[in-house]
Amino acid sequence: MNWSSLVLAASAGALAFSVAAAQPTGAPPAPKNLQVLPKDMPRPQLMEVMKTFSSALGVKCTHCHAGTPPTMDFASDAKKEKQIARAMMRMVHRINTQDLGVKDMSQMKVTCFTCHRGATKPLTAAPTAPVSSLTPATISAERG
Ligand code: HEC
Ligand code: HEC
Repeated sequence: MNWSSLVLAASAGALAFSVAAAQPTGAPPAPKNLQVLPKDMPRPQLMEVMKTFSSALGVKCTHCHAGTPPTMDFASDAKKEKQIARAMMRMVHRINTQDLGVKDMSQMKVTCFTCHRGATKPLTAAPTAPVSSLTPATISAERG
């Protein structure tokens, strides 16, 4: 799966920043449990992906990751939401490459946000007008 090109495109700015910051002492450890993303993905790029997940679903890191800030265990697979997210990543890759003919994942057409729109549960139908807006006048107008 070529997520790295996507992330490279998305995080050019973040990458430049981290190079300038030159790995201070106490830099966080390299990721140790990546199963869908490239195992050696640089941390700044990984963080860009994680931020897109959080904003697409409208959640904090703790929605998918075990622990309580500041004692997080990001490598842990204890939360089912993290497992679901991996399945979603594979699904998004499949839709783009197999159904939509996307060759370069930096040009992906369907993203987490396409469905989630800032919520954990995507809508399955268009929102209907609230019942309160249906007055006898509007109902008889609709019936003609
Ligand atoms: C929608 C779920 C979700 C959200 C929200 C999320 N993550 Fe993740 N995160 C994952 C998944 C899934 C993986 C593993 C990806 C893989 O297997 O390739 C992961 C992996 C990681 C890793 C690598 C851990 C390791 O050692 O393997 C770090 C670090 C991380 N996330 C940090 C964050 C941070 C910080 C946030 C908040 C800004 C965040 N994540 C938000 C799902 C999420
Ligand atoms: C094709 C539409 C679609 C796309 C694209 C999509 N999802 Fe989902 N996602 C769903 C649906 C539908 C559910 C099930 C919601 C339910 O259970 O009611 C769901 C559920 C989830 C859940 C579990 C619900 C929860 O409470 O947290 C997570 C986590 C999640 N998606 C993460 C992702 C991530 C990360 C991406 C991008 C890699 C993604 N999704 C892309 C449709 C989508």
